[in-house]
Amino acid sequence: MAHEIHIDELRKTYGGKPVLGPVSLTLEAGTITAIIGRSGCGKTTLLRCLGGLEEASAGRITIGDGRLARREIGYVFQEPRLMPWLNVARNTGFGVEGATKRQAVAEALEIVGLTAAASLLPKQLSGGMAQRVALARALAPRPEVLLLDEPFSALDPFSREQMQEHLLHLHAHYGATMVLITHDMDEALALAHRIIVLTGPPGIVAGDLRPDLPKPVDRSALAFFEWKRRLTRLLAGQVDDSQLVLDEKPDLARQRLAI
Ligand SMILES: Nc1ncnc2c1ncn2[C@@H]1O[C@H](COP(=O)(O)OP(=O)(O)OP(=O)(O)O)[C@@H](O)[C@H]1O
Ligand SMILES: [Mg+2]
Repeated sequence: MAHEIHIDELRKTYGGKPVLGPVSLTLEAGTITAIIGRSGCGKTTLLRCLGGLEEASAGRITIGDGRLARREIGYVFQEPRLMPWLNVARNTGFGVEGATKRQAVAEALEIVGLTAAASLLPKQLSGGMAQRVALARALAPRPEVLLLDEPFSALDPFSREQMQEHLLHLHAHYGATMVLITHDMDEALALAHRIIVLTGPPGIVAGDLRPDLPKPVDRSALAFFEWKRRLTRLLAGQVDDSQLVLDEKPDLARQRLAI
């Protein structure tokens, strides 16, 4: 069962310096949300708070009924963070327990196209391969919530599109609630039901788009370019108010947009 993610007035400060918030959002169960924004605006901080890796300075995050175990949340870090002494298969199976472990690892490796690399050590992998192992490790326990921090940034454009297709396929099968950080507008439009544009620091929501593009998207369609143009404008700080779908507190959101 997928879970809704409810973020209420979330703030994060480091040593008194505000880096995130206030952010209030409800991410519907079983959807893919992309978070896009300039470097340093607080995307990773937000994701780390969602994953319980960072404690919020203020506000509240509720996932599902609030009783989700940490292992039910899959997290792909911005850098692969593999254990150098474990081979690909053992890295992939690290968070998995029980009789189905072998099968779960085999499936996850197949999804990321690394079945043949199962016995290699991290030092024998390219950057893109290491990133795919990190994705396989997050997928293997079949999490209800999957948090992905630029998971495909080290991949070549072809492999990247292939992995995006795999992720969509996976989502269609398992239906986890996914949050994906990306700098790539095409990727956000290809994968996400909803795109949150973050500006900062401190990171706040500057745009909330729901592209109605049928999946798999046609990247050469006029509608695709239209959405890309809107996104570009938002990222450049030109607020295109008519195209925004404001969240549950429209007045507050409008105030925030006056930047
Ligand atoms: N542990 C930390 N201690 C102090 N400041 C931090 C810490 N982690 C992040 N920051 C600061 O918080 C801000 C947001 O960082 P964050 O990593 O969330 O950005 P980001 O949007 O993910 O950037 P990028 O696109 O480059 O990955 C930055 O100004 C960063 O310097
Ligand atoms: Mg980051």
